Amino acid sequence: MNKKAAFIGLGVMGYPMAGFLQKAGYEVTVYNRTTSKAEKWAAEYGGSFATTPKQAADGAALVMACVGNDDDLRSVVLGDDGAFAGMESGSVFVDHTTASSEVAVELAGVAKELGIGFVDAPVSGGQAGAENGVLTVMCGGSQKDFDLAVPAIDAYSQACKLMGDVGAGQTTKMVNQICIAGVLQGLSEGIHFAQKAGLDAEKVIEVISKGAAQSWQMENRYKTMIADEFDFGFAVDWMRKDLGICLSTAKRIGASIPNTALVDQYYADVQNMGGGRHDTSSLIRRLRKLS
Ligand SMILES: NC(=O)c1ccc[n+]([C@@H]2O[C@H](COP(=O)([O-])OP(=O)(O)OC[C@H]3O[C@@H](n4cnc5c(N)ncnc54)[C@H](OP(=O)(O)O)[C@@H]3O)[C@@H](O)[C@H]2O)c1
Repeated sequence: MNKKAAFIGLGVMGYPMAGFLQKAGYEVTVYNRTTSKAEKWAAEYGGSFATTPKQAADGAALVMACVGNDDDLRSVVLGDDGAFAGMESGSVFVDHTTASSEVAVELAGVAKELGIGFVDAPVSGGQAGAENGVLTVMCGGSQKDFDLAVPAIDAYSQACKLMGDVGAGQTTKMVNQICIAGVLQGLSEGIHFAQKAGLDAEKVIEVISKGAAQSWQMENRYKTMIADEFDFGFAVDWMRKDLGICLSTAKRIGASIPNTALVDQYYADVQNMGGGRHDTSSLIRRLRKLS
C-alpha cells in the first residue's frame, strides 16, 4: 500500500489527527471546506492541501474524514467533487465522523460498487485525545479493510477495535454517548449540590475521585465545571446530534433509554441559553440557572 493519504475535515478533531498522520510518515493531502484552515495546516505540518475532496483523494491509498454529521459526510464523499470520485479501486475510505449507522451502510454500498473499501471509525477521547494522539477508535467494516486502515489510525489512537460489519463502529459510539450523557448529568448534580451545601467542591472531587464515583469526565472536567468555564471541548450541538442518533436507533431496535432522552432535553435547554458551542460539561449551567 502506498503512503499517500488524504484527510477531509480539519475541525477541532481532524486538524490534529491529520497532523499525526503526516508526522507518522504518510504523505497527507488535506481538504477543508474553509480553505484557510487547510492552508494553515499545510504550513504547520508540511503536507499539501486541495480545494476539493476529489483532488485530495486523488491517488491516495487511504482517505480519512472527520466532518459534522450525516449530510456533511455525504457532501464530501458523493458527487463530482466528492472523495469517492478521486479514489481508486482497492483504496479505503475511513470515516471518523460521529454519524448514523445507516449512512455508513449507505456509503459503504456506494463504495463497494466502485471497488473502494469503507470503515466507519468514530472516535472517543475528545479534543485532548486528538491533540495528544491517544483517541479510542471503534470500527465497523471487513477485516481486510480494517487491517489496511489500522497502521494509519495508530498514528492518532491508543486503542482501535473492529466491532463488526459496517455500522458497528457507529453503534458502539452510540453506547459511548449514552453512557456519557448519564455520567455528565450526575456529575453536574454532584458538583452543584456540593457548592450549594457550602463544601469546597475541589476537595470533594479530590476525595471522591479516588473511590467508586470516579470517571473520565470527573477527572478531566471537574476543575472547569467548578470554575464555570466551557469555552472548549465537545460541543453541546454535537452531543444533541449524537443523542438524536441514539434515540432514533433506540426506537428502531426497541431499546429503552429514558435517561438519555431526558438529558437530551436538558441539552436543548443549554442550547436555548446560548451554549450550543460550549463543552458538554456545561449541563451544570442549567442547574445554576434554575436555582
Ligand atoms: N470535538 C470533540 O471532542 C469530538 C469528540 C468525539 C467525536 N467528535 C465528532 O467528530 C466530528 C467532528 O467534530 P469537531 O469537534 O472536529 O467539529 P468541528 O470543529 O465543528 O469541525 C467540523 C469540521 O467539519 C467540516 N464540515 C462541516 N460541515 C461540512 C460540510 N457540509 N462540508 C464540508 N465540510 C464540513 C468543517 O469545515 P469548516 O472548517 O469549513 O467549518 C470542519 O472541518 C463530529 O462528528 C463530532 O461529533 C468530536
